[in-house]
Amino acid sequence: MHLPAAPRINPSILAADFVNMQRDLAKIATADFAHVDVMDNHFVPNLTFGPQMVERIQATSPVPLDVHLMITDPDRWAPGYAELGAASVTFHLEAATDPVALARRLRSIGARAGVAVKPGTAADSLYDVLDEFDQILVMTVEPGFGGQGFMPETMPKLRALADEAKRRGSSVWLQVDGGISDSTIEIAAAAGADTFVAGSAVYGSDDVEAAVTRLRDLARAASLES
Ligand code: DX5
Ligand code: ZN
Repeated sequence: MHLPAAPRINPSILAADFVNMQRDLAKIATADFAHVDVMDNHFVPNLTFGPQMVERIQATSPVPLDVHLMITDPDRWAPGYAELGAASVTFHLEAATDPVALARRLRSIGARAGVAVKPGTAADSLYDVLDEFDQILVMTVEPGFGGQGFMPETMPKLRALADEAKRRGSSVWLQVDGGISDSTIEIAAAAGADTFVAGSAVYGSDDVEAAVTRLRDLARAASLES
């Protein structure tokens, strides 16, 4: 698969209109990936959709899928999302029993393997296994809902991951998710993020394509400066 260059902008379809999903997916054709939030009302206090819906999104989306699993027992359920063709599958470190084994399984199916950490979860246990993952998602809000405020206190963790990845010559992507907008994306880019999820900032805009371009331009400028 052709991999887009940084900075990557992944609109979150959590902020799309669920009964006009085909129309709303078509609006993000210039983005890098469609970010798909799977919530099970157990790992997080909200419920979205499961593999049957994601399979239809996969068949309809103009861009590859970046699936973010906010679910309990990803060891059991995550491989199914790789099998349906998602480009990347990210599970939560807090929920996985054996993160490295699961990442290997996802890769063996052909997906990029991602691991996510909530704001209060340290990421240093990942330093020794960075090569097992294709992307690390640093949550910049508590997972569960769109439209929340960006948490700047997560930036030291992101910076430490970026420094560690550089030191080890790792090419792992560093993703941020939650409260990313025109006014926060530069902070995350300067702290080392290269992949940006944005829900309300993209779908809340009258011109979705322009919102994607603006976010990408802001991220690019900020990462060049840092
Ligand atoms: C939150 C989800 C996010 C959410 C982001 O748990 O993981 O992907 O859609 O929405 P915004 O960009 O509105 O904060
Ligand atoms: Zn997400």
